[in-house]
Amino acid sequence: MAMSRRTFLAASGVAGAAAGTGLLSACSSGTKTTAGANGAPTELEVFSWWTAGGEKDALSALVAVFSQNNPHVNFQNRAVTGGAGANAKAELAKRLAAKNPPDTFQAQAGAMVGDYITAGQVEDLTFLYQQQGWDKQFNPQVLKLIQRDGKYYSVPVDIHHINVLWSNIALCKSLGISTDPKNMTEFIGNLAKVKAHGKIPLAVSRDPGQDWQVKHIMETVLLSTLKADDWGALWKKGGNWSSAKVSTALGTFHEIMGYAPGTSSQYASWDQVSSLVGSGAAAYQIMGDWTEANFEVTLKLTGGIDYTWAPVPGTQGTFLFAADCFTLPVGAKDRDASIAWLTTCGSQIGQDDFTSVKGAIPPRSTVSADERDLFDPYLQWSLGEWQKDTIAGSLTHGAVASAAWNTAIDDAVIGYLKDGSPQTLQNALVAAAAKYQV
Ligand code: GAL
Repeated sequence: MAMSRRTFLAASGVAGAAAGTGLLSACSSGTKTTAGANGAPTELEVFSWWTAGGEKDALSALVAVFSQNNPHVNFQNRAVTGGAGANAKAELAKRLAAKNPPDTFQAQAGAMVGDYITAGQVEDLTFLYQQQGWDKQFNPQVLKLIQRDGKYYSVPVDIHHINVLWSNIALCKSLGISTDPKNMTEFIGNLAKVKAHGKIPLAVSRDPGQDWQVKHIMETVLLSTLKADDWGALWKKGGNWSSAKVSTALGTFHEIMGYAPGTSSQYASWDQVSSLVGSGAAAYQIMGDWTEANFEVTLKLTGGIDYTWAPVPGTQGTFLFAADCFTLPVGAKDRDASIAWLTTCGSQIGQDDFTSVKGAIPPRSTVSADERDLFDPYLQWSLGEWQKDTIAGSLTHGAVASAAWNTAIDDAVIGYLKDGSPQTLQNALVAAAAKYQV
């Protein structure tokens, strides 16, 4: 039986201030010593960037399922702090270059997994898909994204919603502004009202290392102006980054950033930024739905009462998505333990327990009524959107651009944060596309 977020947190004692110190530390401290097949306990090194907000609790939920079925394996948590893998990706790249991979690592469906396949750093997992029947159970769109020449190289564990606007209900109500602005003009009008009231209109960090939060806003504003087809075309040969539509989108982005003054350094990470919306110091945040778990689990707020959500204005009808996956690195020290982990990641119970805590939906194509019951109102909404919307891939979260292209776009965003010129930003984006569009 899969567990809901509430049941999991109650059972594991990870809710509240001690979040993340319950199940996960029990497993990672090596307290499980049951011998493996060869008489010795097996170690499994799992590399991710899940350390903040509800992320660590969701990882605990997945580990709990894994440990139940694999009591002889000691889970070693190699999570590296930094939202969106800001530090983890670089550290992993070093380990892979040194041929010292972890037993399994987090990657994102689409271009990011594609990079590892091209570099020959991950094993073909098609045999596991056939053995487990996943090629018939996972969502066809996700399967298409993670396939290369008909083969599978990663196992998705969640689907995240990227184009979500989060807002503080009481603050918006007191100012008479909508928590669900229908377009950018209405949104910008609302931001101006919040500014006039002396609160933070749009919460985002401008600190070094947090530029991905700004990139996340930028991609949703591009999607808002371009819509799904033109957004998708940007990532393919011939996609036009010099177009008037891109200029308009970047102009709107620039206008919005005028209402996003940046947060102080105690509120730099994505979850700290969310807490400003939670407390009513800020009205809005544009962030992926991992922050829903942060609102509920860490900040102990209630969706629909304290905070609420809506599509980023102008992106209604498109679900901008990212899917976290795990892989079997070439040269993993314990292949069997890695395969056992991947089997948990692809299992219904693994995905249900993980996603319902994480603030994500499972990558399976069908969700039963029982599973639906696990989801709180936000997740039910997200699942409904996933089922009816056009699906588009995220830039910041690995779906559409290679790591090299993403880094060039990071540099463009960092340049923008220094000089504040949308024209220079567009020039840098055009140059990046000329180099990396394939
Ligand atoms: C995303 C990832 C999510 C969440 C988020 C913030 O890239 O897909 O699982 O961890 O970063 O760290």
